[in-house]
Amino acid sequence: MNILGISGSLRAGSANTALLRAAASLAAEGVAVTVYHGVGDLPHFSPDLDTDPPPAPVAHLRSLLAAADAVLICTPEYAFGIPGALKNALDWCVSSGEFDRKPTAALSASPGYGGGAKGLASLLTTVGALGAAVPDGATLGIPAVRSRLDVEGARITDPETADAVRAVLDALINRAEAGR
Ligand SMILES: Cc1cc2nc3c(=O)[nH]c(=O)nc-3n(C[C@H](O)[C@H](O)[C@H](O)COP(=O)(O)O)c2cc1C
Repeated sequence: MNILGISGSLRAGSANTALLRAAASLAAEGVAVTVYHGVGDLPHFSPDLDTDPPPAPVAHLRSLLAAADAVLICTPEYAFGIPGALKNALDWCVSSGEFDRKPTAALSASPGYGGGAKGLASLLTTVGALGAAVPDGATLGIPAVRSRLDVEGARITDPETADAVRAVLDALINRAEAGR
C-alpha cells in the first residue's frame, strides 16, 4: 500500500509536513507513506503550459499520484483557505485526472484553536471538484498543534491525536483496499 503525502506548507519547520512524517511512522506494516516535496517547484498553472508532455515537475507529480494507492494531504489554513502553492498543485491535476476516485484523506494542523477548519473545508471543496474519494473518517483538523506534535522529531506527543491520525489512515487504507 503506497500512500503519497502532500503538504500544503513550504515552510522548513512546517507542522503539517511534520505531521505527514509522523503519519508515516504510525502507518501499519505494509503501508508506506512517501512525502512529496515538489509543491514549490511547480510552475504557476496556466492552460497554456498544460502541454503534452507537460513541464517536468508536473509530469513528476502526476506520475507519483498515478502510482499511489491513496493520497494524504496535510495543509495549514491561509486566509481562510488553502495555501496558493497547494491550490496550484491541485489545479495541475484537473485536466489529467489523477485524483478521479483516488482515495484521499485531508488533514489540517493549526497553532490556533480552530484547527484550520476553513482550510480543511476549502481543501475538501477542491479535491471534491477533482473527483477524489474522501472516505468517512478521513478528515481531521488538529487545533493547538504545537502542544500535540514535536515538529523537529516529527512525532505526535498527544496520544489522542496519534489515535485520531491512525483512524484517518485506517479509513483511507480501507477505502484503497476496497477499490483494488
Ligand atoms: C499567510 C498566512 C496566512 C494565514 N492564515 C491563517 C488563517 O486564515 N487561519 C489560521 O488558523 N491560521 C492562519 N495562519 C497561521 C497558520 O495556520 C500557521 O502559520 C501554521 O503553523 C502554518 O502551518 P505550517 O506550520 O505547516 O507551516 C496563516 C499563516 C500565514 C503565513
